Amino acid sequence: MTDKKPLKQYLMIPGPTPIPTEILSAMSHEMIGHRGPVFSKILAEVIEGLKWAYQTKNDVMVFPCSGTGGMETAVVNTLSAGDKALFVNIGNFGDRWIKIAKTYGVDAIDLKVERGTACDPKVLAAELAKDSNKEIKAVFMQQNETSTGVINDVKALAAVVRKSHPDVLILVDAVSGLLTADLKSDDWDLDVVVSGSQKAFMVPPGIAAVSMSKRAWKAYESSTLPKHYWDIKVQKKFADKGQTYTTPPESIIFGMHKAVEMLKKEGLENIFERHAENKKIVRAGLKGVGCKLLADDVCSSPAVTAIFPPDGVDAEKVRSEMRNRFGVELAPGQGDLKGKIFRIGHLGYVDKLELVATIGALELLFSQMGAPVEIGKGTKAALEQIK
Ligand SMILES: Cc1ncc(COP(=O)(O)O)c(C=O)c1O
Repeated sequence: MTDKKPLKQYLMIPGPTPIPTEILSAMSHEMIGHRGPVFSKILAEVIEGLKWAYQTKNDVMVFPCSGTGGMETAVVNTLSAGDKALFVNIGNFGDRWIKIAKTYGVDAIDLKVERGTACDPKVLAAELAKDSNKEIKAVFMQQNETSTGVINDVKALAAVVRKSHPDVLILVDAVSGLLTADLKSDDWDLDVVVSGSQKAFMVPPGIAAVSMSKRAWKAYESSTLPKHYWDIKVQKKFADKGQTYTTPPESIIFGMHKAVEMLKKEGLENIFERHAENKKIVRAGLKGVGCKLLADDVCSSPAVTAIFPPDGVDAEKVRSEMRNRFGVELAPGQGDLKGKIFRIGHLGYVDKLELVATIGALELLFSQMGAPVEIGKGTKAALEQIK
């Protein structure tokens, strides 16, 4: 073991992700008047880029906040106290949306699914079938559940909702999922989709984007939940003038402007493929190391992988050793999984070779911690996934 500090940091967490130099440079722009024409043009182009990423013609508004602000925006602009809403809950962020809704007096039905699995559309259909009086007004779900490394089949879940409850709202938290896998807001008839700047957009935290369908705007008109900062109609009024209601985080907007330009150039299919390949590299490498993964292959996330360390190896010790010895920052388990798992983020500005290096460092560490690991087996399996 060495006591030398690592030279570099490898940010292998599921957001914030590393930032490309082009985006960092764009963000170093001086501040400009946020009620003037230059800013208006930039904001309008950012919103156009968001619509492209969302695959929607719906309105998309940006709020200066983290993803959770976007989740709260979705609730307070569409529901009223006492409204019944169903929450597809596959992890910590499902729990969070329920907490937000309950804070405002929403009657939240918790469709809690075993951690590490996605929601089976048949399970959702059965839950909706119980609502014979059609009291449910909205169905909430995560596209990608960051705490467990699981991706839901949003297309199939949305289709199930539309079949039994054609007019209810479908609200999707795509904070960590957007751009890592296909999400067709319009084709799949999604009413509200939430995202954040710090994930696959490769921009620092600071902006949440929230889309609103016609159905969602109609729900806004009858929603009586209290709102001021999160009032999306106010935000829309300003967006139509090329502004935000409050002072915007200009640097983040400049970063988003560059990000959507770069991402559009890459193309949606290539972006999805890049994330799918990252997932394959990480999963093959970890299996080679002998680790058990929380999510099965069928529902595994292209953005993040949740990992049980080998028997006898402490998950938090893995994180501190990886940080101190190799400069690799890994994410902890959340909620009930705290201390039991660690997570590797592989979304945004993360390169294949960084993933291989992370697997290499893990197998060296595990073997030095006494786990029966054959050094090189995981790295070889990871490398074999690279086309
Ligand atoms: C799926 C998901 N939803 C919501 C959030 C909340 O975002 P924030 O931490 O930016 O508030 C996160 C953050 O990691 C997330 O991964």
